[in-house]
Amino acid sequence: MDIEKILKELEPEERVSLLSGVNSWGTAAVPRLHIPPIIITDGPHGVRKTKTDGGSFDIGNNEPSTAFPTAAAIASSWNTDNAYKMGVAIAKECRLLGVNVLLAPGVNIKRSPLCGRNFEYYSEDPLLTGKFAAAFIKGVQSLGVACCIKHFAANSNEDFRFYGDSIVDERTLREIYLRAFEIAVKDAKPYALMCSYNSVNGVLMSENKLLLTDVLRGEWGFDGLVMTDWGAIRDKVKGVIAGCDLEMPGDVTYNKTRLLNAMKNDTEVSKSVETSVRRVLSLVDKTFNSAHTCESDLKDHLTLATEIAADCAVLMKNDGTLPLSGSEIIFIVGEMFEKMRFQGAGSSLITPTKLISPKNAFDAHGVQYEYSKDSVPEKISADVILFFGGLTDFEESEGFDRKNMKLSAKQTSLIKALLRTGKKVVFILFAGSPVELPFANLLSAILNMYLPGMCGGEAVYKLVYAEVNPSGKLAESWPRSSKDSSCAEDFGKGPVSNYYEKSEVGYRYFDKHPEKLTFPFGHGLSYTTFSQKIIEKTDNSVTFSVSNTGSCDGAEVVQYYETIDGIRNLLAFEKVYLKAGETKTIELAFERPDYTGYSTQIDFKPQPIADTITLESPLKDFKKTISGKLLYNLVLATVRKDYKKARKLPDSPQRDAKLKNAHFVLKMMPNSSLRGLAMSSGGKFTYEMACAFVEIANGHIAKGLALMRKPRPA
Ligand code: BGC
Repeated sequence: MDIEKILKELEPEERVSLLSGVNSWGTAAVPRLHIPPIIITDGPHGVRKTKTDGGSFDIGNNEPSTAFPTAAAIASSWNTDNAYKMGVAIAKECRLLGVNVLLAPGVNIKRSPLCGRNFEYYSEDPLLTGKFAAAFIKGVQSLGVACCIKHFAANSNEDFRFYGDSIVDERTLREIYLRAFEIAVKDAKPYALMCSYNSVNGVLMSENKLLLTDVLRGEWGFDGLVMTDWGAIRDKVKGVIAGCDLEMPGDVTYNKTRLLNAMKNDTEVSKSVETSVRRVLSLVDKTFNSAHTCESDLKDHLTLATEIAADCAVLMKNDGTLPLSGSEIIFIVGEMFEKMRFQGAGSSLITPTKLISPKNAFDAHGVQYEYSKDSVPEKISADVILFFGGLTDFEESEGFDRKNMKLSAKQTSLIKALLRTGKKVVFILFAGSPVELPFANLLSAILNMYLPGMCGGEAVYKLVYAEVNPSGKLAESWPRSSKDSSCAEDFGKGPVSNYYEKSEVGYRYFDKHPEKLTFPFGHGLSYTTFSQKIIEKTDNSVTFSVSNTGSCDGAEVVQYYETIDGIRNLLAFEKVYLKAGETKTIELAFERPDYTGYSTQIDFKPQPIADTITLESPLKDFKKTISGKLLYNLVLATVRKDYKKARKLPDSPQRDAKLKNAHFVLKMMPNSSLRGLAMSSGGKFTYEMACAFVEIANGHIAKGLALMRKPRPA
């Protein structure tokens, strides 16, 4: 594609049209110049290609694709090859479905265990996160499909994600929250990046020139395209000048008109538009002219999804009860045996090509068991009880944060009742993030599957019966409770997040407070034993000798840390697969990051939040006035209707998906702003209507109604 020639031929209107989506999943085409639309879909753990464009919330209506383990699980494998292989497989499915850009990977740092979207993120550690992201991007892009790394930056909570402001000093920002992006951008060169909804130190990310242009492009050499998160644009002109190229889902007439007018009067704007259009064309070029051919066998992906899920699982505790030999009599409790929670809720929801629950797998392998969904019989005839449980999609999801780390009261009392039987109880856990485990010392074993993807049940079977030896290690610390986390004083308290704990995130904090942990970062057991020692060290490399000293094959993760400026840092890691009795020598190269030159002071004072209702106010604030409450109820009623409708459906996987989608939207809506809704509705709810709603909510009914009656711009 001759980008410079096309640029010269594009009319101003066409240029503007290229900087905005035409619907949730496509950019504008310019047929006369043979510019095709770019087709975009959600990831990150599979391809969520919607069957129709029903807007950004049309989550349940997808083409089937392989649902791989979620990022929280993948990172626990500490094997970046898993991310690479999964990237290749997902790219093949993208190619089959005609997708050019995958909205993945999610590389936000887990600041608090309560963030509802932690299942979609890798780790609390920037190096581990960055390395996994880089491997995934390389896998996807090896087949000419673009990755859009997200959500840049310091987007650490869900409750306030649409209008929150992350107040964070420069050193912490760079050392913790930007570093994962930096590693992935420099190492894997993603073709695209998504800026988040929130502000950082008072500047909205879609208008943040410092981060989008000076740091990302200037310092790190990013040469790809920046797109907004869905509806994250506020001032289109400011956005383009700041380096935010593409507005998604777009099709907001108000924004197009403003940009077009600004271009006429301001050369800085027209120059920025040209730069952004060049980036859009370059993305078209990269993803359409790919020479790679693609053959995909979805059956291979079932095998891959199973292997990866098994490699991710973390054996958090074991008194020798696991593995089972096959001769034990087992009693199984917990609905997740049949209805495994295998993925998270929200925009990442995949319609799986197949689902293998633990029940499916146990039955297929001829395992004999007795099963009770949710009660404990008076007398259990068995040697071992397997309890399948964890968090549900109603407790943990994109769109809202958890209030605490507790399992539901129902599950907790079930576990307690099982423990009272005096039998050995093995907890097989499905959750996207840490949960409180006050009874951990009474359990015989805890096998943490995280959210293992659609083949998770088969992986459970293989791990429990030792066809695979567990080898995952926690990629995040497991505090005793959320009150023990390093940002507990701030998290969830309001839209302005004060990152007061600075770089003491995760193990960097718990190193000083080990008593606050149930399980530390990097922890994970095996059915075999290992020994390891450092045999050589230079300034930037370290050589380990690692031996499998037990009687079965297994894998150990070599982790190398150094204390820098008083805080421990993971500098390198590698997973080593060893036969029983085998020894390997592993050399790890590393860099020692130095952030000491950056300021640890915050020289920004957040503005007090306005009393009146504005376009930026979350919908829940509309309840403050009588007319605003009416509007609030009107909007929420539609969403509640969907939720009620889904509840009435007969029990089926479709009902589960519909219900959790409706719940996600219901929880998210009160935190959405009218500006955000106008920017993400694909033209259905116009900017002018949003302004009218604001007037009405502030009691200016006549003015609001007049605005509503104004003819809409063409
Ligand atoms: C999410 C993104 C997602 C986009 C499109 C947003 O609300 O934050 O991660 O890619 O929607 O579904």
